[in-house]
Amino acid sequence: MLKAVILIGGPQKGTRFRPLSFEVPKPLFPVAGVPMLQHHIEACAKVPGMKEIILIGFYQPNDALSRYLSSAQQEFKILVRYLQEFAPLGTGGGLYHFRDQILSGGPSAFFLMNADVCSEFPLLEMLRFHRDHGDVHCAVVLATTANRKQSLNYGCIVESQKTHEVLHFVEKPATFVSDIINCGIYLFTPEIFTHIGMVFQRNQEEKRNCVYLGDQLWSRQRAEVIHLEQDVFTSLAGQQQLYVYKTQGFWSQIKSAGSAIYASRLYLNQYLQTHPERLVSSQEGGCTVNGNVFIHPTALIDPTAVVSVLLGPNVSIGKGVCIGAGVRVRESIILHGASLQDHCCVLNSIVGWDSTIGKWARVEGTPSDPNPNDPFAKINSETLFRDGGLTPSITILGCNVNIPSEVIIRNSIVLPHKDLSRSFKNQIIL
Ligand code: GDD
Ligand code: GTP
Repeated sequence: MLKAVILIGGPQKGTRFRPLSFEVPKPLFPVAGVPMLQHHIEACAKVPGMKEIILIGFYQPNDALSRYLSSAQQEFKILVRYLQEFAPLGTGGGLYHFRDQILSGGPSAFFLMNADVCSEFPLLEMLRFHRDHGDVHCAVVLATTANRKQSLNYGCIVESQKTHEVLHFVEKPATFVSDIINCGIYLFTPEIFTHIGMVFQRNQEEKRNCVYLGDQLWSRQRAEVIHLEQDVFTSLAGQQQLYVYKTQGFWSQIKSAGSAIYASRLYLNQYLQTHPERLVSSQEGGCTVNGNVFIHPTALIDPTAVVSVLLGPNVSIGKGVCIGAGVRVRESIILHGASLQDHCCVLNSIVGWDSTIGKWARVEGTPSDPNPNDPFAKINSETLFRDGGLTPSITILGCNVNIPSEVIIRNSIVLPHKDLSRSFKNQIIL
């Protein structure tokens, strides 16, 4: 029997996702038309013997999350539960805290996944790799190749060419270590808890000693906070416990809003094989579709449009969105309830829930896609500012923003509930 655990983090993170993370917890943000998490859940549900999916995070239980979990449970016919940490415990602390729940029922192994990654989730291949390597080690780490410069932003792995054992693991090194990077997707046997437990005991002891010595720093830090990467993998490397499975499939982090558009493109492309029913083809009644496009069945495209609506490539249109005649949308995510009036144009942007874009208006951003000429390039989830200015990036309209007719909004972030009255470029509109 198998289980899966998804680390969903909590509200303190996701700053690069603002203002979109004001409205929904980041793991529920739609990527290729479905909540980011659903891609993980669908992949788990396909694994034979998968009994339960446990989400661990520090979000207060909220309506959106509970509603989503109960609908996912019904749709995928698998138990899905949310366990809340009392504080952010790091990537290993929550796992250890809830070990009894994870191990109940006696799973032979379980997957652990970061919620903020998009991947084709080669879970069956990881299982096969684990069995082919004798079943005795306690972890398989999914990895991919990055370029030298970008590898520094990830966990870096040095492997044995022959056995694929992890010989060294360094989390976000300062100088180049290896171009093989950790994807944040693992297969563990219950044995992993022995190793996390040792870190927990050591932290407890260090904390006790430091409190005794009056060390302020440690006395404020919780002994329960454990980082799998630095605290566990680094010491397990070279002990014949940690193995690496390299995937050739697609993989990307979803840290910024720009990376959500890139991840949507990857998933929409995967739908050609896995969910062709989620992609639309050119419809009758004035809508031309170019490339991969998802349209929620409740979205309304003006059926009387004389000038054709042109959608795609890489467009996801949410629930109840209204689209007028002559509208053009490319490389964008339009969230539910938004209204795109006649002849407006939306390129490289995310249009927030219930926002309106007036007639002939143009909302445009700059894509932050990985370098297409570098097969190992990853997306740069940069900070908002560089050299004192806003980094040109995709345009984001928060929820319930009104863009009047005939204006241009370029490379800007508009906070929720704004009624703009003119054009803007390269600004955060507060
Ligand atoms: N429950 C819980 N509690 N989840 C957490 C916590 C916590 O305290 N802290 C982080 N997470 C979740 C995040 O929501 C995310 O899904 C995942 O754990 C990893 O988040 P980060 O701590 O921000 O790490 P990172 O994304 O910069 O790096 C990790 O992922 C990379 C791949 O995307 C590392 O594992 C790297 O080695 C790896 O390359
Ligand atoms: P690139 O050279 O790759 O940038 O593409 P492009 O030359 O097709 O130009 P762009 O990406 O700016 O526009 C793509 C499509 O949107 C074209 O078919 C244009 O006709 C259409 N388009 C551009 N601007 C507007 C606009 O303001 N309103 C409307 N309705 N359509 C527009």
